[in-house]
Amino acid sequence: MTKSAIIIGASRGLGLGLATEHAARGWQVIATARGDAPDLAAAIAASGGRITLAHVDIDDADSVAALVAALGEARFDLIFVNAGVTGPGHASAAKASAEEIGALMMTNATAPIRIAERLLPRLNDGGTLAFMSSILGSVGLNTGGGYDLYRASKAALNTLTRSLAARLKDRPVSILSLHPGWVRTAMGGPSADIDVETSVRGLADVIAANTAPGHRYLDYKGDTLPW
Ligand SMILES: NC(=O)c1ccc[n+]([C@@H]2O[C@H](COP(=O)([O-])OP(=O)(O)OC[C@H]3O[C@@H](n4cnc5c(N)ncnc54)[C@H](OP(=O)(O)O)[C@@H]3O)[C@@H](O)[C@H]2O)c1
Repeated sequence: MTKSAIIIGASRGLGLGLATEHAARGWQVIATARGDAPDLAAAIAASGGRITLAHVDIDDADSVAALVAALGEARFDLIFVNAGVTGPGHASAAKASAEEIGALMMTNATAPIRIAERLLPRLNDGGTLAFMSSILGSVGLNTGGGYDLYRASKAALNTLTRSLAARLKDRPVSILSLHPGWVRTAMGGPSADIDVETSVRGLADVIAANTAPGHRYLDYKGDTLPW
């Protein structure tokens, strides 16, 4: 049977790559954008009906409710919450305004869990709930500092995901906190290690290989990261 996915935050970058990669593997994919998304529109046009468009801004509760309503009876084998932001360029807890901290923590930590909670009733048994974390969210690997607030937002996402996974311990679903590598996107910049295609191919393989129930923190090569 054809597998189905919803990729949240698929207008460009890794989310768009994940939608395209899963469609190429024969999945039916709902890809979300929050505004104009010309690259996603081109991918949809080239997908032969494998990718369809939906809209959501994960920070906006009304927008999330509208998405859930628009989904009708749709169910998923993969719910992938990819949306994320860098936060203020200085990345400093000392310099950041309350608004900057609030916006970063909302988009990167709280809103992904909120939308996941709304979509979880639609996740099929044996399916996967994936969050785009980062190796920078690892407390154990943070020996060098830098990107302080962004790190904190992804560490918070990992912790909130652990709590969600604990609540879901009786459901036969896989929960993944994923590091995509350092990838050449608007966020990763032109000097990053790998291209989007390499990252999303790896991530799709990791998702396919890790369907057993439980919560895992893995990179795009399938290696386990320390919390
Ligand atoms: N690139 C890397 O090296 C790297 C490494 C580790 C982790 N990550 C993580 O990977 C994810 C994707 O990053 P990327 O590199 O592909 O960055 P990107 O090109 O900047 O894409 C970010 C995506 O998130 C969406 N988004 C942001 N805020 C949103 C919101 N409130 N509601 C809905 N969508 C929202 C953006 O939509 P718009 O087009 O509407 O802005 C865009 O689709 C992020 O979670 C990031 O933290 C990236």
